[in-house]
Amino acid sequence: MPPPGDLTCRNLTPRATTLRDPADPTPRNPMPQDLTIAVVNGPNLNLLGTREPHIYGATTLQDLHNDVTEAGQELGVDVVCHQHNGEGELVSLIHDLARTGVDGVIINAGAYTHTSVALRDALAATALPFVEVHISNVYRREPFRHHSYLSDIARGVIVGLGTRGYELALIALVEQLRA
Ligand code: DQA
Repeated sequence: MPPPGDLTCRNLTPRATTLRDPADPTPRNPMPQDLTIAVVNGPNLNLLGTREPHIYGATTLQDLHNDVTEAGQELGVDVVCHQHNGEGELVSLIHDLARTGVDGVIINAGAYTHTSVALRDALAATALPFVEVHISNVYRREPFRHHSYLSDIARGVIVGLGTRGYELALIALVEQLRA
């Protein structure tokens, strides 16, 4: 089981953008990495893969980070991944991400989604553009999961599409930031 904290997923290697004709002499990666997107996971998401797999699936947090980093490579963006169990740690992380100049955030705040005014305030204070993601469809679950302190200030929300939701959020956020 991966420990909570900052899992390395930064990948600065050149990337392919689409399938291409091998005879095409155009350089493979003409697009500079113009954006850095942080993927932030909250409490208990370090247990992905073993945590209630009937709800959250079999993908581990490391698999998720690898997949979203790969999706970032295809889009030509730098992806940095973090996971913390503590509310204060997540608040401080959001401050740090804003200070270090990330361009946007994809966040699954786990249970803090439903409880944390502090996390909402951190996202509002930094004005970081963010997409909220939930692996499970929270609206098909207990009523206390139906309220989010983040949704109304998010660029968008993706729920119930499994860990694929992170990649979809990345595509949409990058598209918006480049528009
Ligand atoms: C979750 C849904 C939350 O209600 C729950 O507390 C989580 C995970 C999801 O990804 O489906 O920890 O955010």
